[in-house]
Amino acid sequence: MSYQIAVLPGDGVGPEVSNAAMQVLAALAQKYDIELECREYVFGGAAIDACNNPLPDVTLTACQQADAVFLGAVGGPKWDGGAMRPEAGLLDLRQKLGLFANLRPVKLHPALAEYSPLKAERIKNVDILILRELTGGLYFGEKQRKNNQASDLCSYSKYEIIRIAKVAFEAARNRGRHVTSIDKANVLETSRLWRETVSWLQQSRYPDIELRHELVDSAAMKIITDPQTYDVILTENLFGDILSDECSVLSGSIGLLGSASLGAGKQGLYEPIHGSAPDIAGQNIANPLGAIASVAMLLRHSLNHHKAAMALDDAINRVIKRGVRTRDIGGAASCQEVADKIIHTINK
Ligand SMILES: NC(=O)c1ccc[n+]([C@@H]2O[C@H](COP(=O)([O-])OP(=O)(O)OC[C@H]3O[C@@H](n4cnc5c(N)ncnc54)[C@H](O)[C@@H]3O)[C@@H](O)[C@H]2O)c1
Repeated sequence: MSYQIAVLPGDGVGPEVSNAAMQVLAALAQKYDIELECREYVFGGAAIDACNNPLPDVTLTACQQADAVFLGAVGGPKWDGGAMRPEAGLLDLRQKLGLFANLRPVKLHPALAEYSPLKAERIKNVDILILRELTGGLYFGEKQRKNNQASDLCSYSKYEIIRIAKVAFEAARNRGRHVTSIDKANVLETSRLWRETVSWLQQSRYPDIELRHELVDSAAMKIITDPQTYDVILTENLFGDILSDECSVLSGSIGLLGSASLGAGKQGLYEPIHGSAPDIAGQNIANPLGAIASVAMLLRHSLNHHKAAMALDDAINRVIKRGVRTRDIGGAASCQEVADKIIHTINK
């Protein structure tokens, strides 16, 4: 069986890091006998330029039919203030593919401790998986603007909460068996429903998983003062957007981390957590490791190829340890050189 991968290079450094990541995927496919068909489609700002639509029909159809979608990044100053935004294509794509769970693993490579803004003893052994609900809450609620007043509706159903909480508890079973659910239950009704529902699910279906509830304001502090106390973080859309960016800086560079957005089935959208980095685009200096780490997630979640995913995680660690690093983590290697070293390590 041949897996279909829709590749959306996007804008800025997106094409550079996608290219690096797809070379690594091709090397793994060859080594582990995985049949793949990877095809590129226009998306984001590049698609606005080409056909006046950030998510053209041909791209959407290809993504809907693919086993997995790989995205570089979208956006840039060229499209700021325009009638159409590249980022709108991404929101639309996530919604049309029914992707409701965003997974961002945050782990510090010991050799990169000096690049974390936290002290070495505080950041040591940090290994967090953030699970953010992607399709509900304030971002998708009804919006109104009348005279000098505006409102955004925040709404969550029990069904939406159970669906994302299940992903968190299942993930915790394969990790440290601990979930921290983050809300604002002292103020918000949606948070009170969130807390009740998550507690009910844990008691009825996941008694083997420890559950802790935290308020978002104190969690924002604890992530900095006590990051080792977290295993799986489960939270809603807005809080997850903010907290996942806060967590991402712990690892030392935004260029290092990958992410997966998953729905009910095996299909997923995989992308580095960084944006299109227009300030360094076209120079072959972007760190491709976030994109390459997203390939490991793609292999695990959509293709069920755990052996190849583990080999890739191992190759990433070895290459960092050997000091092959791009500028953001203190090296001078190019984006392509890092990809070459990863491929060399895989093939050894
Ligand atoms: N999912 C996405 O595609 C996504 C996510 C975030 C932002 N964006 C868009 O990207 C554009 C730029 O946004 P921004 O500047 O706020 O965030 P950004 O992540 O693009 O860049 C922030 C900083 O990190 C650096 N950086 C980012 N990726 C890097 C990498 N791989 N290697 C080395 N350094 C890297 C950049 O040079 C910059 O200094 C905007 O248009 C924004 O809307 C897209």
